[in-house]
Amino acid sequence: MTRLNVLALSGSLRRGSLNTALLREAERLGPHHRFDHYDGLGRLPHFNEDQEHPAPSAVTELRHRVQDADAVLIASPEYNASIPGALKNALDWLSRPAGDDGPALALKPVAVIGASPGPFGTVRAQLTLRQVLHKMNARVVQQPEFLLFQAHQQFSGDGRLPDGSPAQQLLCAVLDALGQLATTEQYQDRTRA
Ligand code: FNR
Repeated sequence: MTRLNVLALSGSLRRGSLNTALLREAERLGPHHRFDHYDGLGRLPHFNEDQEHPAPSAVTELRHRVQDADAVLIASPEYNASIPGALKNALDWLSRPAGDDGPALALKPVAVIGASPGPFGTVRAQLTLRQVLHKMNARVVQQPEFLLFQAHQQFSGDGRLPDGSPAQQLLCAVLDALGQLATTEQYQDRTRA
């Protein structure tokens, strides 16, 4: 099985975040991959075209971590039927070229997942996120979709999804799909170019 460097990006800044817990669960389910958990969303300055050159150090660090990853796994909350502003801010920074490098997420394999205590499991946020990633020319896993509704009831006390639960199986399937996307010839060709 191919070992991937996966950048795990939570759209939540909250310590007890369900979405961050989802990423930790993904890491446990994919122990052959190397997960890099990015927690710097709250340290990124608001995107400002006047401050792009030179880029703020926090932005450069994020860009490098995306560039170093074979794939990106984004777990985002839904805020007011959309994605959190902090996540959109990071995506706006990542949509911009830096020096000779193109936008860091362009052609990058990305999977989108989300958890909400509500009944819709972040479906509206995920639609928005997919639209933004499409504009950024990222290569996004289309199937399966992972939406965890009433998520606060689905995690056990230790912050894990129950072994063998449908949610856990679906998360494994998302990781498999992300792995397949990251190892297709098209992507390999790009990384060799
Ligand atoms: C929410 N929440 C929410 N949930 C949802 O399913 N649809 C929504 O539109 C919203 N809107 C919303 C706006 C704001 C400003 C907040 C703070 C919250 C609830 C949200 O899903 C819940 O707080 C999650 O637990 C947030 O994700 P994390 O932080 O647990 O990962």
